[in-house]
Amino acid sequence: MSWSAPSLNDVLYRYSPEEVQYWIVYGRANTPMPANGLLGGGAMSVQEVDQTIAWLDSIQLSQADAFAQSVPTAEAALNRIAGGELTTQNLINRQEAEIADVNAAQSKVDVVGSYPEDIRDLFQAPGTCTDGSAAYVGATCSDPGVDSDRDGLSDETEKALTAMAASAMETITVTVVTKPVVEEGQPPLPDEYSTGPNALYDVRFDAFIAFTNTDAEGLPVQDFTAAEEFLGHLSNDVLLLNVTAERKQAFLDNLVPGLKFLEDALDTRPWDVDFEAVAGEMGVSVDDAKLAVGLFNGYCARCHTGGYSAGPSFEQGPGSGAWGPSLADGRSLVQFPDIKDQIAFIISGSENAVGYGVNGIGSGRMPGFGSVLSEEQITLIVSYERSL
Ligand code: HEC
Repeated sequence: MSWSAPSLNDVLYRYSPEEVQYWIVYGRANTPMPANGLLGGGAMSVQEVDQTIAWLDSIQLSQADAFAQSVPTAEAALNRIAGGELTTQNLINRQEAEIADVNAAQSKVDVVGSYPEDIRDLFQAPGTCTDGSAAYVGATCSDPGVDSDRDGLSDETEKALTAMAASAMETITVTVVTKPVVEEGQPPLPDEYSTGPNALYDVRFDAFIAFTNTDAEGLPVQDFTAAEEFLGHLSNDVLLLNVTAERKQAFLDNLVPGLKFLEDALDTRPWDVDFEAVAGEMGVSVDDAKLAVGLFNGYCARCHTGGYSAGPSFEQGPGSGAWGPSLADGRSLVQFPDIKDQIAFIISGSENAVGYGVNGIGSGRMPGFGSVLSEEQITLIVSYERSL
């Protein structure tokens, strides 16, 4: 699950420096923003926090630029709605690929599981070791094997390593994401998740060449170094495969309901908005309804719509409440019988321990939007909120 981090370059328009300082020191409850200040258990001193705020100040947009961002922000939020199905389909593809990986772990262990130990054995066993390879695994070599290219790996070991690398490359696959090409004007297709060969194992060892492989820059790599790296990657992957195979059921218990959740989301489409219906409720044109939804999703949803930050498939309905209170079921009409009070509240935001509306008590965490959005835009958002 990924959180979309909010932009920082208009943060001081939405929050006062004191509010920003509060979050840097204490973090944001229920969000991945960590507490950075010493008082909040983090690593930044008061001075560093101040410096951070000064830096934020220096990257602040001019007010005109902040206004200019509002329409693109709304458009991006509307694109997110339009792309909800695709995003969900992608997540389903990935979830299916992960499930396939978990299911395949044991059969991979059956092939490559013994390789790390086999290699260590070759490095120290009579007839296949050299002084160098034995020393690498902390042993001595009483009966060294033939090492034609004198690179520290016996001829026999090099042959065995090459065979194991080829087998590992085929067995220990990696997930490959392909973006299908579509013709212009056509809707994009979901990414394809498939598995492909693991380039880490694209190594070979020639018993008569001490530098058989080349690195990413095309420079020759000593065989012994390539063997060390091969063994390192293999040990990590085999460990991971073993854990996955052993805990297969626990992983599936997690992944399978996740897949079901996403498939259900594809049916229920929680990101969808019926713009005609919204326009009807708001008594505005469909275009204005779109702008209202785009602005609300772009500026308010991450705090007021449950699951919004987790992605379209996880949304729990516009204004369903998350970090900020629920705005659904006509809640704003109760809190602000007069629309003008609600507009004024969105312009200035809340203040800690200061009352608002009929029975609201501010915590100072509801930002003011008066310097980021125009009054017209705020009025539009507010009438949308009042229709929820
Ligand atoms: C950073 C999170 C955050 C964002 C972004 C945010 N709000 Fe809020 N909002 C809150 C919190 C928290 C409260 C509760 C008051 C408080 O704690 O100060 C609140 C309260 C409200 C209320 C009063 C609800 C009630 O019934 O008491 C309204 C209306 C509201 N917000 C509308 C908006 C609108 C419109 C936007 C976007 C333009 C927005 N909020 C953006 C956090 C946020």
